[in-house]
Amino acid sequence: MIHDTILAALRCPKCGEAVSFDGRSLFCAGARRHCYDAAASGYVNLAPEHRAGGDSREAVRARTAFLGRGYYAPVAEAIEALAGEYARPGAQRERPLLCDAGCGEGYYTGRLAKYGPVCGFDLSRAAVEAGAKAARREGLDAFYAVAGLYSLPLRDGSVDFMLNHFAPCAEAEFCRVLQPGGVLVVGAAGEDHLLGLKRAIYDTPVRNEVRADLPAGMALIERRTVRENIRIEGQADIAALFAMTPYYYRTSEADRAKLAALDTLETEIEVDLTVYRRDA
Ligand SMILES: C[S@@+](CC[C@H](N)C(=O)[O-])C[C@H]1O[C@@H](n2cnc3c(N)ncnc32)[C@H](O)[C@@H]1O
Ligand SMILES: [Zn+2]
Repeated sequence: MIHDTILAALRCPKCGEAVSFDGRSLFCAGARRHCYDAAASGYVNLAPEHRAGGDSREAVRARTAFLGRGYYAPVAEAIEALAGEYARPGAQRERPLLCDAGCGEGYYTGRLAKYGPVCGFDLSRAAVEAGAKAARREGLDAFYAVAGLYSLPLRDGSVDFMLNHFAPCAEAEFCRVLQPGGVLVVGAAGEDHLLGLKRAIYDTPVRNEVRADLPAGMALIERRTVRENIRIEGQADIAALFAMTPYYYRTSEADRAKLAALDTLETEIEVDLTVYRRDA
């Protein structure tokens, strides 16, 4: 079943009307009664116009394997701490509604469910399927849907806390769906994120450019940086990390071979978590 708070926040992606759920499908209240069937795992495709998009099944598999080994646990803990501090229910809600925009397979989404019902949106079918299966297994109040970040199937002002972690930042859309006073946390690579990985591949590794944009209609509250040195054990984990990065698609065979020869890899991780509040 879908938590009432989530159901009340959802809207039909075709006509914008409210939706109801009969245990199998979401139906809209519009004249055309648009219908969206839930998959066996529980996710719903609310972007039927996108036949494919987002991360591939292989990319999802690699990320799930890597994240499951706990290397990014300090990032998850920092995100949880932010949700604990900032997720507050808006008017007419007992518990806050949280949303993970670009949730992947829900490594962080599941942790948000501690603080209130959560919905995770991603264009990758493979990712939301994995998220929905995990939510069912763990009995979480988490709803996953295939949806594009630039047109979320959510009503205006329906979300209290939004996470957007290493995914495109659709700031105008996030501002629309956040309640006034609601909080957006944007997670992005800091200057030295994965510098050790880049050192192992490239002769002249370049530091990341830090994203410093201020979404319109929002105020900057604070920025927290998670910095750690991690030691990745084994070629399988190194390859899984590499497959999660944008470098995977733009590295020559010769440079890939350097990484493939390693059994351990030490690298910095540096993630900036920037907190914004939607103007009241
Ligand atoms: C690097 S992954 C991050 C996933 C997750 N937030 C995490 O940190 O584990 C980026 C995700 O954004 C999704 N994505 C990219 N563009 C998107 C879009 N326009 N709408 C929805 N999801 C999108 C991809 O499918 C992918 O799952
Ligand atoms: Zn409709």
